[in-house]
Amino acid sequence: MNAGVVTASYIVASILFILSLGGLSHQETARRGNLYGIVGMAIAIVATITSDQVSGIALIMVLMILGGIAGFFVAAKVEMTAMPQLVAMLHSFVGLAAVLIGFASYVDPSINLSGTEETIHEVEIYLGVLIGAVTFTGSVIAFGKLQAVIKSAPLLLPGRHWLNLAGAVVCVWMGAEFLDAESVGGGLVPLTIMTIIALAFGVHMVMAIGGADMPVVISMLNSYSGWAAAATGFMLSNDLLIVTGALVGSSGAILSYIMCRAMNRHFVSVILGGFGTESGAVATAAEAGEVTAASADETAEMLRDAKEVVIVPGYGMAVAHAQHAISEMTHKLRSAGVNVRFGIHPVAGRMPGHMNVLLAEAKIPYDVVLEMDEINDDFPNTDVALVVGANDIVNPSAQEDPNSPIAGMPVLEVWKAGTAVVLKRSMATGYAGVDNPLFYRENTRMLFGDARDSIESVVKHLG
Ligand code: TAP
Repeated sequence: MNAGVVTASYIVASILFILSLGGLSHQETARRGNLYGIVGMAIAIVATITSDQVSGIALIMVLMILGGIAGFFVAAKVEMTAMPQLVAMLHSFVGLAAVLIGFASYVDPSINLSGTEETIHEVEIYLGVLIGAVTFTGSVIAFGKLQAVIKSAPLLLPGRHWLNLAGAVVCVWMGAEFLDAESVGGGLVPLTIMTIIALAFGVHMVMAIGGADMPVVISMLNSYSGWAAAATGFMLSNDLLIVTGALVGSSGAILSYIMCRAMNRHFVSVILGGFGTESGAVATAAEAGEVTAASADETAEMLRDAKEVVIVPGYGMAVAHAQHAISEMTHKLRSAGVNVRFGIHPVAGRMPGHMNVLLAEAKIPYDVVLEMDEINDDFPNTDVALVVGANDIVNPSAQEDPNSPIAGMPVLEVWKAGTAVVLKRSMATGYAGVDNPLFYRENTRMLFGDARDSIESVVKHLG
């Protein structure tokens, strides 16, 4: 394929990626957005591997087929609840690729640059390897934490901020040495030292982040992987990779910002880590009082008598696969004239949009699924708030207890409804490990059991 056709294909692919991002921002257009992304990526791959710059196409094809098969099986098998781990793992590949391409590009004898061009190329390599190494180990640790093979509690080394600062100073120093190096052999030493520090920093950074801050870490690593890809694009002089990397980098950064806002956290304090480690704020059942249990029969009666019902789904709905039973219940109640709506917290579940995907899969109409900000003011006029497998996102201590580890996180104010019915299996805490005073409120009823079994039982009693 000649250079002109490749450039034209890259422009088309870039436009498709932008349309894809636009489509993915709304449920109604998400499928179309996905399709744009797939077509854009197919065009990008074909244009790249058939361009004059690329040789050894047979080997590339074999590797692509092997990678494609592995990717297909992993994606087909992955549970919705394990999606964040998969995303973390994929980010680690982008980081590793940036490191390897950086080294390969540095030692490549066919790249003969001099003067300013050489300096620019070396800066690209140094930054690409730096970002790639942090992304690689950070993502591997995030994967381990989400997969529960590494303890989720933050690891807080003494003097950790000083350690990070010392690492940053050495990286700047090594950068100067790298640019000053007379030979490739001489440059490899500072490059390797910086890579080791950056790999260690990635481990340290994510190990120090715990509890409820993990979602922000995932989107932050998503952003880093984009910048690593953009840096790789500079190293390889590939415009499409620069554009795509910048799109991923900036959209990941925006998502991190939105999530920080949703959890009332400052981005810098998330990076510095340690959230969720404070003790002393966790209420105990004995302090908080008794809980009032309700049966499926009683819940069905409350729902039947209600005019306004708000369902708040959380991670437990995903675990229980309760969305289809909820859809059936919603249909029955709406047919009986009950106004049933859904309130979605931005970090409900384990990944952005987790609840929306499940509700869409169960064919729940989009117009009754509202964001937290759209529905929070309506709880005082709601007869029954049905909390299905949610915990942290409906915890009043976020507003009422300044010492709570989740203090300041915006939550769905279900306790302001006439009655809040909470469906879960036990009194166990949620992801942040914080006890929930909601369960002990006078107007709260606990419907214990697997969420799907409970909802199916409620549906039966609705008749
Ligand atoms: P959580 O606070 O984790 O609470 C989920 C609750 O579901 C648990 O208390 C659990 O109680 C219950 N549950 C589990 N399996 C169940 C089943 N089969 N049937 C019924 N209940 C079940 O979830 P949330 O309220 O959705 O809040 C999300 C949390 O995850 C936040 O802290 C958020 O920061 C964090 N997080 C979010 C993301 C994103 S991006 N959304 C990513 C990572 C982490 P029992 O064990 O007693 O049943």
